[in-house]
This record gives sequence, structure tokens and C-alpha cells, in this order.
Amino acid sequence: MRVLTIIPTYNELESLPLTLARLRKAVPAADVLIVDDNSPDGTGRLADELAADDRQVHVLHRKGKEGLGAAYIAGFGWGLDAGYDVLVEMDADGSHQPEQLPLLLDAVEQGADLVLGSRWVPGGKVVNWPWQRKLISLGGSLYSRILLGVKYRDITGGYRAFKRGTLEAIDLSKVDSVGYGFQVDLLWRTVQLGLKVVEVPITFVEREFGASKMGGGIFKEAMVNVAKWGLTARWSKLTGKRG
Ligand code: GDD
Ligand code: MN
Repeated sequence: MRVLTIIPTYNELESLPLTLARLRKAVPAADVLIVDDNSPDGTGRLADELAADDRQVHVLHRKGKEGLGAAYIAGFGWGLDAGYDVLVEMDADGSHQPEQLPLLLDAVEQGADLVLGSRWVPGGKVVNWPWQRKLISLGGSLYSRILLGVKYRDITGGYRAFKRGTLEAIDLSKVDSVGYGFQVDLLWRTVQLGLKVVEVPITFVEREFGASKMGGGIFKEAMVNVAKWGLTARWSKLTGKRG
């Protein structure tokens, strides 16, 4: 299994080298693609330096900040073209433990088409998150679960492993959500294709350096889209048409 871990970055100068070092140690066989949106703090330059020292580390530079979703779609395209079998999503800020990546990869090996690293299944944890953030995450997942009628507990999470075929089956050119909405969007498309989704417990640790990039606009986009997708699916079921 050739594995590519995609790490999107926007101003992650302090976190990126720590996360990358941990990842390279935890799963040495996995290649890495850093997708930087021309970070003003010079993360892109640092990424180039890290890549110059390590043949398994690659960098994709983008013009400017176009959102998490757009960065991942570019990264997936790069990874599919390069022939990888499994494509992993991982935050740069240390919230996703590289040491837990083998748990996600095991689930892929056992037949999952998409593995969700999950904070909200038994064994999953969140460390150092204020209660407001927990409420938003739990509320967001509950909202999506009800509207979309899916059973998964952590629907907005960003620590995931996709089998190549899953991304090939999804029409990535049609995905235009940003932020949390992007994560829900990809899961929803995978579910609608009838593919196998498995949740594995992870420990999410709040970042030590820098700041979150997720703002209110991203949240609103997700709420509106999820409602739209849920209602469209129900309407199609009622009328027997495909949405
Ligand atoms: N290239 C690029 N462009 N990277 C971005 C952008 C962007 O516009 N916005 C954010 N990122 C990168 C950050 O640099 C970081 O590596 C990762 O995406 C996650 O961003 P954070 O700002 O740290 O997100 P968070 O901690 O608030 O949110 C986490 O939880 C969400 C809810 O579960 C992430 O795991 C999200 O993916 C998840 O949806
Ligand atoms: Mn974060």
C-alpha cells in the first residue's frame, strides 16, 4: 500500500516541523505532501527546506488562501496522479497524532473505503478544547447526523484515510465547500456512493502554537449546505427521483 499523507498549511511555521518529524518517525513508509497557500509567515519556504532534506516529502505551492477544501482537492489530485493507493488528511498543528495513523491504515487494510478518525466514539478523546469548541463539534455532528440520516459520530473531523478508489468515484471537481463543510461534503458523497465508512477512535489535542483558521463564515456555509443535502436526499426518496 503506497500511502500519501496530505498536510494543508496556512501559517504553521512553528507546528509544521514538529508534526512532520513525528509523522516521519511514526510511519516512515508514508510519503508526505504539504499543501501551502502562500503563507505570509513563510511556512512554504520552510516546507521547501524540509523537502530538500527528505525525498519522501513533497510540497505543493498555491497562489493564496483559498480554503482547506480547495487545498485538499489540489492535494488529492496530485496524489492520484502520482499513483498512491491511500490518501490521508492530517492537520499541521499537532491536533492529529501521527502515532495514531497506523490505526487508520489498519482499517483501510481491513476493507474500509473511508476511515474517519473520530473524537466522539468510545475511546476517542479531545484534549485542551474549551467547552464551546466541544459543543460546536458535537452539535455540528448531531445536526449533520439528523439531517443526513447517517450514523457516524464525528462528521466534521479532519483526520481521515481515503482509499484511492473512493476519491476516484467522487467527482472532486464538483466539491466546492470550504472548512468543516468540506469534511461533511466528502463523507456525504462517500455515503451516497454506498461505500464502506469506518470510524476509529482518535485523541485530538488542541494546537500549542498559532491560531485556528476556522471562522464563523465557514460554520454557516456548513450548516446551510448540510440542510440542503439532507432535504434534497429526502425529497428524492419521496418522489423516487435521483437528486
Ligand atoms: N492550505 C491551506 N489553506 N491550509 C489551511 C487553510 C487554507 O485556507 N485553512 C486551514 N488550513 C490548515 C491549517 O494550517 C491546519 O493545518 C489545518 O488546515 C486545520 O486548520 P485549523 O485552523 O487548525 O482547524 P481547527 O483546528 O479549527 O479545525 C479542526 O477541526 C475541524 C472540526 O472538526 C480541523 O481538523 C478541521 O479539518 C475540522 O473540520
Ligand atoms: Mn487545529
